[in-house]
Amino acid sequence: MNFNEIPKIELHTHLEGCAPPAFIRGLAAEKSIDISGIFDADGGYAFRDFDHFLSVYEAACTTLTSPEDFRRLTMAVLEETAAHGVVYMESFVSPDFCGGGDLAAWKDYLAAIEDAANEAEEKLGITMKGIVTGIRHFGPEACKPAAKCAAETFGSFITGYGMAGGEMMGRPGDYAYSFDMAREAGIPLTCHAGEWGGPSMVAETIRDLKVARIGHGIGAIEDADLVAEIADKGIVLEVCPGSNVVLKAVNGWADHPILKLRDAGVKVTVSTDDPPFFHTTMTAEYEMLHKTFGCDEADFKAMNEAALAAAFCDDETRTRVAKRLEPAA
Ligand code: ADE
Ligand code: ZN
Repeated sequence: MNFNEIPKIELHTHLEGCAPPAFIRGLAAEKSIDISGIFDADGGYAFRDFDHFLSVYEAACTTLTSPEDFRRLTMAVLEETAAHGVVYMESFVSPDFCGGGDLAAWKDYLAAIEDAANEAEEKLGITMKGIVTGIRHFGPEACKPAAKCAAETFGSFITGYGMAGGEMMGRPGDYAYSFDMAREAGIPLTCHAGEWGGPSMVAETIRDLKVARIGHGIGAIEDADLVAEIADKGIVLEVCPGSNVVLKAVNGWADHPILKLRDAGVKVTVSTDDPPFFHTTMTAEYEMLHKTFGCDEADFKAMNEAALAAAFCDDETRTRVAKRLEPAA
């Protein structure tokens, strides 16, 4: 099986988290910003654990200071992603890292990101959509301007609202205001939960934030009733196995619950989260799923179909992308 060539749908990436370390180092050098402490001897991102990962991530983001930086970033990311057979990618984009939550600034950053996405679609045949994201550990108040930015720019490119960041900060209900605001604007919703928080965090996220998708969600495996509820409600999990392994949310690939969840009837999809941080790519994720669990072409086809069905894009885009999943005649 040529894993690279399988056409893929990826629902869960973070735009800044896809930034190659060399790209961030280049920006740091251009701007004389000293972030040398976030890299290891090989030039990769270096972090000890999840909290340290978040601070390294934020340090990397200090180099992204203009719409033009995000235009270049988006183009670099889509080139890399398309090289792994990804034909459609949804990416979390954060008003906090794009103008500090200010709506006018956000619109400028967004225009640059969207411009690059359009150029990449023309040149590379990959479609990107954006999901505006609040950053949980910045607190519930900081998520309100993010949701406002989402509501004001929801449309053909911004297709969702979500929340990432430190999952153990508060309870899901503390963030209901921003999710309610986004829902009232008609925006599809997703939220990171059950990466660290266990079944209660997933259950409260479903109950209090009323999301259609959950980022990670693997903690649900500890509660069979919750797994059944997720399956019954058709809530889709954006599973990122390589991320979970590197951040030690699971003990290793063999312990990852992705297939147990799927076999219990849950709609699972596969994504890379922040590929250079976790030394992964979509090709590598498929290789490891094949090596560890014997996943074959039919399994990947089902996961990609589930992902496309759960994508937050409009139906015209969905139909167009579906053609890219069909084997070449
Ligand atoms: N932001 C970027 N990657 C993340 C992850 N794996 N969990 C939570 N927030 C994130
Ligand atoms: Zn994530």
